[in-house]
Amino acid sequence: MNVPFLDLRAQHDPLRGEIMAAVQEVIDRSAFAGGPFVAKFEEDFAAYCQTRFAVGVGNGTDALWLALLGLGIGSGDEVITVPSTFMATAEAISHCGAKPVFVDIHERTFTLDPARLERAITPRTKAVIPVHLFGQMADMDPIMEIAKRHHLHVIEDACQAHGAEYKGRKAGSIGIAGCFSFYPGKNLGAWGEAGAVVTNDPALGQKIRVLRDHGQDKKYYHSDIGWNGRMDGIQGAVLRIKLKGLDRGNAARRAHAKVYDEKLAGLPGLTVTPPAAYGVPVYHIYAVRVTERDRILQALTQRGIGCGIHYPIPIHLQQAYRGLGLGVGSFPVAERCANEFLSLPMFPELTPAQIETVVQEVRSSVSASAPLATLA
Ligand SMILES: Cc1ncc(COP(=O)(O)O)c(C=O)c1O
Repeated sequence: MNVPFLDLRAQHDPLRGEIMAAVQEVIDRSAFAGGPFVAKFEEDFAAYCQTRFAVGVGNGTDALWLALLGLGIGSGDEVITVPSTFMATAEAISHCGAKPVFVDIHERTFTLDPARLERAITPRTKAVIPVHLFGQMADMDPIMEIAKRHHLHVIEDACQAHGAEYKGRKAGSIGIAGCFSFYPGKNLGAWGEAGAVVTNDPALGQKIRVLRDHGQDKKYYHSDIGWNGRMDGIQGAVLRIKLKGLDRGNAARRAHAKVYDEKLAGLPGLTVTPPAAYGVPVYHIYAVRVTERDRILQALTQRGIGCGIHYPIPIHLQQAYRGLGLGVGSFPVAERCANEFLSLPMFPELTPAQIETVVQEVRSSVSASAPLATLA
């Protein structure tokens, strides 16, 4: 049996009628760019995230970039983030004119290691962007405490963490802003590109609202040099319907992860990554660490198991950032994870038979591997 990495069709089939009716309504009202369907989704999403405001934007990269711009971050500033993330986190920092400064990840959570944060702060540091990688939140209490002491803004990159929790608080609700991507494959995915910034700060929310719409606070009156970063009306309508199923989908992902964790634990050359005790993860990605990653990936792919690597090259070693002069060995945990991470099929509609097939194929693929060195 082939098992896909992701099956969006299985997710959309039961919703097809409801979503098509909503799309028809957007068409009938010609509410394509921004407009009432986006505004309604913003209201629902803010409530879901336990924040006062949500601002719908074009994608997650725009969300990060507009949040930075809205906070006045620009040329000469430094923004701290992690090397273990999707390129967009660093791109957003660079495109507002600031310099990305990296801090290694924690060995068990794969998110920003608070113990290493303070060392990276300089007089130019203006903000920290912890990334809730794979749907697990970073250890926010110590990050917020250090940021407060140094007067730094904290922007959460929650693009992989819709609905994740940290000590009962929702992803995106702890920092000054939380940034989300609704790329189709995300836990809450649009039928195209979309994103949002959530915040409790009225001034920042309003600033981002203006910036996403060419800096106009009134039609053709431009208070700021903004951008076209609006969310499509159709995406607002689709997301509003899909938001209702987000918690159910996240619970299914956690149940699947538990089965994987139990059935894959103790295999030679493979380490499962149990969730941190401080939160509730949402498993956007289910990753294990394996020695001989590339051989196992190839073996699984040949046997019809959809796998991925998130991400093969940490940001500081990407060619695009060679100008930062950060070589191999700069961030050992991130580099090691990049060599060992293997993402297995994970989506709410996975069946027990599909999970069993993945488990059996992983078992037979790793059996020839050497054991991983013990985690520190
Ligand atoms: C951690 C992270 N940050 C930012 C982004 C950017 O989001 P988008 O692709 O919607 O621009 C993504 C999306 O893949 C992501 O995973």
